[in-house]
Amino acid sequence: MQLKTIMLAEKDSVMTLSPTILIFDSGVGGLSIYKEIRQLLPYAHFIFAFDNAGFPYGEKPAEQIISRTYRLIEKIVVHYTIDLVVIACNTASTVVLPKLRQHFPFPIVGVVPAIKPAVALTRNGVIGLLATRATVNREYTHDLIRRFAPHCQVELLGSSRLVELAEEKLHSKPIYLSEFSEIILPWLTLAKIPDTIVLGCTHFPLLKFELQSVLPATCQFIDSGVAVAQRVYSLLDKLSITHTKPVIESNIAICTCTNDYVNKLDNVLANYGFMTRLTYKI
Ligand code: DGL
Repeated sequence: MQLKTIMLAEKDSVMTLSPTILIFDSGVGGLSIYKEIRQLLPYAHFIFAFDNAGFPYGEKPAEQIISRTYRLIEKIVVHYTIDLVVIACNTASTVVLPKLRQHFPFPIVGVVPAIKPAVALTRNGVIGLLATRATVNREYTHDLIRRFAPHCQVELLGSSRLVELAEEKLHSKPIYLSEFSEIILPWLTLAKIPDTIVLGCTHFPLLKFELQSVLPATCQFIDSGVAVAQRVYSLLDKLSITHTKPVIESNIAICTCTNDYVNKLDNVLANYGFMTRLTYKI
């Protein structure tokens, strides 16, 4: 795929015009989606916003998630011209999209569990959906299953501990496989173990190695990262986004509260290309 950037030759200088993409999550899970988008749009300007003051979303009522997401984006658009927003959080995407699409003029891409592709992949007809407790309980998720997987057995497993483990891993804290086995245990004792696992939380691709280690080797994993990146690419391509910015700005991260925990994340953010972190309280 060719990157949709426009090169303008101006006398001796070259100006690169590129879109600004806002990626939103409650925590580090959004980085798994960012990684896939950056593969397709390496020269885009990225803002990674994470609501660490509201984390974890998987344990919050829908109204609070809707209000926090809306307020943070509203603050960001005062300072930055945004071309597209990715709600890189399954838990939020299952509830916030209608309100955001009603209020903001730019395209808003959600991330929802990859049930449909999992149906095409499963060989034994048993799919495991690993997500936050909020996502497994949402009507949106049940509707996806009814629509796309009516003939499959779909086993739902909601875990907030796994979300914390992903955060701990990125903070270089020790994490133990025994804890993963314990979380996955309800699936290991089933008569038919799921052969296809949907990672329905953006934090979970960061734990793929550990999850693979405690599940049978025949299990295949699927997440929504690549599909979301392709959707972002095609929307920007269709809109022929041509920014008026003279050069690509440096990528920035935005959090919602400053504390020791987030200060320690700065090295990780820098490794992902976010050299600056700002705090927007909501
Ligand atoms: N990363 C979010 C998701 O995809 C959830 C994390 C949380 O519980 O805050 O659902």
